[in-house]
Amino acid sequence: MNIFNLSVLKLLLVGILWQELYSHPSAQILPNEQGLMQPHAEHTITVKSSSLHSKALPDAPDQYTPQSLVCPIDSPFIRNGSTLSTNETEWLEKRRNFTVDAMIQFFARLDLGSLNASSYIEKNAANASALPVIGIAASGGGYRALMNGGGALQAFDSRTVNSSLPGHLGGILQSATYLTGLSGGSWLVGSMYLNNFTDITSLRDSGNVWMFQNSIFVGPTESDDFDVRTFEYFSQIQDAVTGKYIVGYNTSITDYWGRALAYQLINATEGGISYTWSSISTSTDFQSGAIPMPIIVADGRAPGEVLIPDNTTVFEFNPWELGTSNPPLQAFAPLQFLGSKYSTGKLLTDEECVWGFDNAGFIMGTSSSLFNQAFLKINDTDAPDAIKNSLNRILGSIGEANQDIAVYEPNPFYLYNSQSEYAKSTVLSLVDGGEDLQNIPLEPLLQPQRKLDVIIALDSSADTSTRWPNGTAMVATYQRSLSSLGKDSGITFPSVPDQNTFINLGLNKNPTFFGCNSSNMSDSAPLIIYIPNSPYIYQSNVSTFELEYDTPERDLIIENGYNVATMANATINSDWPTCLVCAILSRSLERTDTAIPEKCTICFQRYCWDGTTNHTDPGDYYPSYKVPQG
Ligand SMILES: *[C@@H]1O[C@H](CO)[C@@H](O)[C@H](O)[C@H]1NC(C)=O
Ligand SMILES: *[C@@H]1O[C@H](CO)[C@@H](O)[C@H](O)[C@H]1NC(C)=O
Ligand SMILES: *[C@@H]1O[C@H](CO)[C@@H](O)[C@H](O)[C@H]1NC(C)=O
Ligand SMILES: *[C@@H]1O[C@H](CO)[C@@H](O)[C@H](O)[C@H]1NC(C)=O
Ligand SMILES: *[C@@H]1O[C@H](CO)[C@@H](O)[C@H](O)[C@H]1NC(C)=O
Ligand SMILES: *[C@@H]1O[C@H](CO)[C@@H](O)[C@H](O)[C@H]1NC(C)=O
Ligand SMILES: *[C@@H]1O[C@H](CO)[C@@H](O)[C@H](O)[C@H]1NC(C)=O
Ligand SMILES: *[C@@H]1O[C@H](CO)[C@@H](O)[C@H](O)[C@H]1NC(C)=O
Ligand SMILES: *[C@@H]1O[C@H](CO)[C@@H](O)[C@H](O)[C@H]1NC(C)=O
Ligand SMILES: *[C@@H]1O[C@H](CO)[C@@H](O)[C@H](O)[C@H]1NC(C)=O
Ligand SMILES: *[C@@H]1O[C@H](CO)[C@@H](O)[C@H](O)[C@H]1NC(C)=O
Ligand SMILES: *[C@@H]1O[C@H](CO)[C@@H](O)[C@H](O)[C@H]1NC(C)=O
Repeated sequence: MNIFNLSVLKLLLVGILWQELYSHPSAQILPNEQGLMQPHAEHTITVKSSSLHSKALPDAPDQYTPQSLVCPIDSPFIRNGSTLSTNETEWLEKRRNFTVDAMIQFFARLDLGSLNASSYIEKNAANASALPVIGIAASGGGYRALMNGGGALQAFDSRTVNSSLPGHLGGILQSATYLTGLSGGSWLVGSMYLNNFTDITSLRDSGNVWMFQNSIFVGPTESDDFDVRTFEYFSQIQDAVTGKYIVGYNTSITDYWGRALAYQLINATEGGISYTWSSISTSTDFQSGAIPMPIIVADGRAPGEVLIPDNTTVFEFNPWELGTSNPPLQAFAPLQFLGSKYSTGKLLTDEECVWGFDNAGFIMGTSSSLFNQAFLKINDTDAPDAIKNSLNRILGSIGEANQDIAVYEPNPFYLYNSQSEYAKSTVLSLVDGGEDLQNIPLEPLLQPQRKLDVIIALDSSADTSTRWPNGTAMVATYQRSLSSLGKDSGITFPSVPDQNTFINLGLNKNPTFFGCNSSNMSDSAPLIIYIPNSPYIYQSNVSTFELEYDTPERDLIIENGYNVATMANATINSDWPTCLVCAILSRSLERTDTAIPEKCTICFQRYCWDGTTNHTDPGDYYPSYKVPQG
């Protein structure tokens, strides 16, 4: 993979930096594994009452160290993943009214000719099955994906200043039911939800998070509120991970990576060390249905596997659960009690419930575990011995081929069923959600029970040798939908062409609709609005493993992302906002037998892939600016 060559140079530079930082003798006093990393004992152990929480909360009982506590009255158990959870079905009912209101407002700004889209929604508001269900998926690709995807979410968010002007798209985020993220996309989704669903502009301008000028090898030295010296930063990380290890949990490099990452993303001391992913489910705005449901994706690595096959089991972290809808495992575990000891789907007798294992940074680190690589190179530097020793201990026990795993032990699915490999081991290994090449987190949105009509797929992948998308993620998901695993999972996906065609037809540089003609498909797959990263005002094809950006560059990539989503505020094509709404409404109009307005027909002629192909090798791909540069 050529991306790594670039990172080697980067890491050499990092090495020099390390030498500078740690040639000082005082570096030796960093606490080591056997030394100073006492769990933080001052926290009182009480069972929390979730009804009082108002936002994603630092609700772990002992920071990064999971703790066994009395179980709530209902003992947690593993459930069959062939249906939605009751938490989700109940939540969906509440979410609906919010999306209805948001669609009415957003659609009112657009002219679809013969159809009044706002009053169409109003008319069908009481009929759940008639209404469109919208998902947004933010791909992986490191900080590039966070920034490019972030620009798109900024454009889709009605809270963004000027986002309801003509040519803008504010309101799509409020109209969506689901928002998924994977790897770098999980950093984006996590940043929003762990900071009280804050908007992208606030994240960008916060002065505490998204400070990408401070690399993870340095820590938040320039944060307005959480400034710590690099040395202290590393001792905090070491203390946290060792605390978890000491009470008996196996740790992996992902624990270190996730801790470091969180300092960039969570607006709280020590990178939000006590924030759990499950605490999102207790936030007021989420519980009331006022904001979309966030889902993060990771891939399973079955025992004994090293490479991730295309038919691997795809896991999701939603606010309530970790699990998969893929057979043969097809099971979900309560997220809040991850780390508890289950067997055959039940909590072992006399076991207490473990709280605080689902640390939010650890979950985002899991989805992006490919970046564990970066941490391993610390060995080649003058980094503190404590960190090096810990990483080497982990490597010694798991082997180099498993550098990228996140260890979930005890495995909640142990002996849950007899068919799945994942149920045979006491360890569940998860890896970066993009390792199966499905770099856009579509899988949770293709679950038939979720009944999505349309998915906005934000693709920030670095597929071509010049690091632009070429449709590889779409091809991977399409092929998976045709495999026996895809069929057994009930997944349907519109057909997409090969990568050469994506480039030759420009499908990888203009927004493209796939699955426009649903009668072509045996089942009702959602329509996919594919929005690839493309240079509008900035060459945003920065390297996946570039982990440091100065503020002007960060802001330009976010602004480019805004332009990618809006087609430069509809200056490339003034019909773009209308066409997006046509795509959003398409499946619903079919269901309610409503005539497609002429305007939409024109849109579909322009934006739908027409089924043609051109398999010629396109050669090197160097797209030019879409907005002429002066
Ligand atoms: C889950 O439910 C499905 C559908 O009822 C069933 O076919 C499957 O065997 C169940 N899985 C387990 C592990 O019980
Ligand atoms: C999920 O639903 C179950 C059953 O209705 C309920 O006991 C539990 O509290 C819910 N979980 C959360 C986090 O709301
Ligand atoms: C949604 O709005 C309808 C009126 O349009 C109302 O009858 C219903 O109770 C609302 N549902 C929820 C869950 O608030
Ligand atoms: C669409 O219908 C709404 C009422 O539902 C009305 O306020 C609005 O003016 C209509 N828009 C157009 C363009 O006719
Ligand atoms: C609700 O919409 C569906 C189409 O999805 C339609 O078949 C059904 O008749 C509608 N129900 C009512 C009560 O209008
Ligand atoms: C979270 O955001 C909501 C809605 O914007 C706001 O009402 C609430 O006060 C915020 N909560 C905290 C703790 O900041
Ligand atoms: C970060 O937290 C501070 C308070 O500690 C708050 O004032 C600020 O709005 C937060 N920023 C974001 C982006 O959430
Ligand atoms: C790091 O160095 C130690 C001792 O010098 C060695 O045992 C270990 O294999 C090295 N690890 C990596 C990842 O290179
Ligand atoms: C498309 O991307 C894949 C994945 O990076 C790569 O192997 C392939 O060579 C690319 N093809 C073209 C034509 O860019
Ligand atoms: C994945 O494919 C391999 C090879 O074709 C097959 O042996 C394995 O059973 C498949 N796994 C699943 C979960 O379908
Ligand atoms: C589109 O609008 C955004 C936000 O208002 C702005 O940052 C961007 O520069 C505009 N795009 C162009 C091409 O003018
Ligand atoms: C197919 O793509 C190649 C490479 O981009 C191009 O030169 C050729 O003109 C295309 N063929 C057709 C029929 O469009």
